[in-house]
Amino acid sequence: MKEAITVRDLSYTYSDGVKALEDVSLAVNEGERIAIIGPNGAGKTTLLLHFNGILHDTGTDTGTGTCGEIEVFGKSVEKLRMEDIIRAVGIVFQDPDDQLFMPTIFDDIAFGLINLGLKEDEVRERVERTLLRFGLSGYEERCPHHLSYGEKKKVALAAVMSMEPRILVLDEPTANLDPRNRAELIATIKDLNEREGITVVTATHDVNAISELADRVYVLNRRIIAEGSVQKIFSDAELLKDSNLEVPEVFALFKVLQSFGYNCEELPLSINAAREEFEEMKKNNAFINSILKSARKLV
Ligand SMILES: Nc1ncnc2c1ncn2[C@@H]1O[C@H](COP(=O)(O)OP(=O)(O)OP(=O)(O)O)[C@@H](O)[C@H]1O
Ligand SMILES: [Mg+2]
Repeated sequence: MKEAITVRDLSYTYSDGVKALEDVSLAVNEGERIAIIGPNGAGKTTLLLHFNGILHDTGTDTGTGTCGEIEVFGKSVEKLRMEDIIRAVGIVFQDPDDQLFMPTIFDDIAFGLINLGLKEDEVRERVERTLLRFGLSGYEERCPHHLSYGEKKKVALAAVMSMEPRILVLDEPTANLDPRNRAELIATIKDLNEREGITVVTATHDVNAISELADRVYVLNRRIIAEGSVQKIFSDAELLKDSNLEVPEVFALFKVLQSFGYNCEELPLSINAAREEFEEMKKNNAFINSILKSARKLV
């Protein structure tokens, strides 16, 4: 399988001496969905900002900056042209105010497309298509700074997706969204991955969304502490405690059920998985009930 992002022995120290990353190595395969989790200040944002070279300063003589290698589809980020990086990796920032800076939504979405060298007609057509796709038609002339936080997040994602990157990198995408917008965003991300094969890397504290957003998880706390399937990571109580992480609510509930004797092979991590689990249980009950009924007839 082709590696979309490869990170080797990455360390990063900010200019004030804060060591945010230490010997981080990871690999994201093309088409995979990866979550990066870890406590506040763990270095998640610092790591993501390396994926397209936003952070890549080498102040080696002062002991600050970047040390290590980052490759995108096998090519060093340092050596890629800006245009090729934009086409490969789209990053949606943690704070949409860091991303939206033009006077109108139209201009904000058009900005990246113009940088890609697209002609005016094509830019216009892509902006309109993007707005329609993200339910933002009519927002063209609105000022980004007057939008609500959730609307800003949507526009920031739309602006990145308009450039059609093959890898989508999301920094806390569900933070501060209302339930409907959160569900819509999760569905959009799933859809982009399933239908268009887009590789998705998400840094998040939203443990209830992880099983819907990721197939595999890296736990980061300046270093990579653990890696594995969502089920494996959430089953490691010691790791979660040490890393100051919670388990999804559904998972916790089923753990309680288990302590009351409920038997289930894999604890569900999402409401959808819990629903499937209960459907199975219902089927089994029906089975048991029919046996009891037959037994009663026999007696
Ligand atoms: N511009 C900066 N200058 C100096 N230190 C910084 C800077 N940005 C981040 N840091 C520090 O680097 C460390 C990692 O920060 P980072 O923002 O990457 O963490 P995070 O895992 O994304 O946290 P959160 O969950 O709060 O978003 C923290 O100790 C932070 O204080
Ligand atoms: Mg962060």
